[in-house]
Amino acid sequence: MYLGIDLGTSGVKLLLLDEQQQVLATADAAVPQHRPQPTWSEQHPADWMAAVESAVAQLRAQAPAAWRQLRGIGLSGQMHGAVVLDAQGQVLRPAILWNDGRASAECAALEQIEPAARQITGNLAMPGFTAPKLLWLRTHEPAVFAQIRRVLLPKDWLRLQLTGDAVSDLSDASGTLWLDVGARAWSQAMLQACGLNLSHMPALAEGSAPTGVLRADIARRWGLATGVPAGVQKGVVLAAGAGDNAASAVGVGARIAGQGLVSLGTSGVVFRVTDAFAPATGRAVHAFAHALPQRWHQMSVMLSAASAFGWVTRLTGQRDEARLSAAVAAMAQARQAQAPLFLPYLSGERTPHNDAAASGVFMGLRAEHEATDLAYAVMEGVCFGLMDGLNAMRLTDTGGAPATGHAAQAGNAVHAGRAGAAPAMALALVGGGARSNPWAQLLASGLGCALQRPQGAHAAAALGAARLAAMACGGDEAQWCQSLPADASFVPQAAQQALLAERYARFVALYPALQSQFG
Ligand code: XUL
Repeated sequence: MYLGIDLGTSGVKLLLLDEQQQVLATADAAVPQHRPQPTWSEQHPADWMAAVESAVAQLRAQAPAAWRQLRGIGLSGQMHGAVVLDAQGQVLRPAILWNDGRASAECAALEQIEPAARQITGNLAMPGFTAPKLLWLRTHEPAVFAQIRRVLLPKDWLRLQLTGDAVSDLSDASGTLWLDVGARAWSQAMLQACGLNLSHMPALAEGSAPTGVLRADIARRWGLATGVPAGVQKGVVLAAGAGDNAASAVGVGARIAGQGLVSLGTSGVVFRVTDAFAPATGRAVHAFAHALPQRWHQMSVMLSAASAFGWVTRLTGQRDEARLSAAVAAMAQARQAQAPLFLPYLSGERTPHNDAAASGVFMGLRAEHEATDLAYAVMEGVCFGLMDGLNAMRLTDTGGAPATGHAAQAGNAVHAGRAGAAPAMALALVGGGARSNPWAQLLASGLGCALQRPQGAHAAAALGAARLAAMACGGDEAQWCQSLPADASFVPQAAQQALLAERYARFVALYPALQSQFG
């Protein structure tokens, strides 16, 4: 039995997998997110551990006999967050998360202190990444900064609680800006640029490697055997695990160059595996190590995706997201054509704008619009954001137009293929938002490729984490990292593509027109 723990932004998801790769049980527990100031986003690490404890109790109750045979645990986590610890290993302040925009000025400063930053890390310095947050702390909270002895990513802080080991995996470490991503090793130059050194960093391991065993006191509390049967395995093994997007990729079997996924989680991501380190900083495309040895990946990241639909549901006083999604599915295309446009930058944006100050915008509101029209606009705006991301990745394929080409991009509807061919293979669609059929259909038409929604798509990262645990316990990668049966497939529809092409052209013109208003 293998346990996947996915520490997301809205909560933790646990999944129990057996030796035949059947999912035996899943459990969730919510975690509060705090926004103490505009653009800030924080969580208390203690709330993560409390959520894990609560989800473990649910899982044990669902499958008590299987639970007792647990061999391995894999961790997946929201990336980039900074958990800062003192000499006693105590948390010094709330964790600053991946969708926090306070460290914009520090990004420019970092690239000035270390002019080779983009070459070393393969990534633009963006406010959500970990290193600029530490520079921010150095300037704004010097008393905290002076006490920092260790910096950990969210899931690696959980590992420290579970095993006592300070270890990270290479996919998650890629999002710190302290990793030489091509060499898969910490960069002393990038650490030094932040007033840190190797002693502040955890050890590094490939995602599918073992990193330690569950502490005996926790194993006892969780009703697990500690070190029996003797000689077989001493305790429950922790795999290094992965950042949540790489974990989702493992969960859907994306392990070979060209395979990929689209994720509609709190964030929105287009992800594809590469067999070499492939930096493409021009339009804020991310280039990270994969959770599997000797592979990397590229991804575009938008900071509000499924979370934007949750937001519009609450804002319009609707009862639940599924009902609002069904109302969107029932809309005639003629009515969709009259909906407002939506810029989905509720937490700023990374790909392609790298603009923490960007904000959400409804454009074209009219007296006749209702909640359903706004809901459609939000789904479509997120779809357009993902199209921007895919286009940014395609531009890197074709030698790349410069980062300024909004006007050129306006004529660049995805299905028209101006920026490159549509993805050769179907992409897997994962994340909580993947449950919505109209949204999935919109994405297939907008991205111009077939999308396959695998069974259990909303828990792909937890499944990937459990699979990495199986590999850390000796399982073969090809056997444990297969694609999943589709529960539904979505293909581009010509009429919908024509509507989206016309509206996308207006969408891409909006950001440059409004940019100067975004503070
Ligand atoms: C990736 C990123 C997000 C978070 C969401 O760069 O910031 O996808 O990992 O959990």
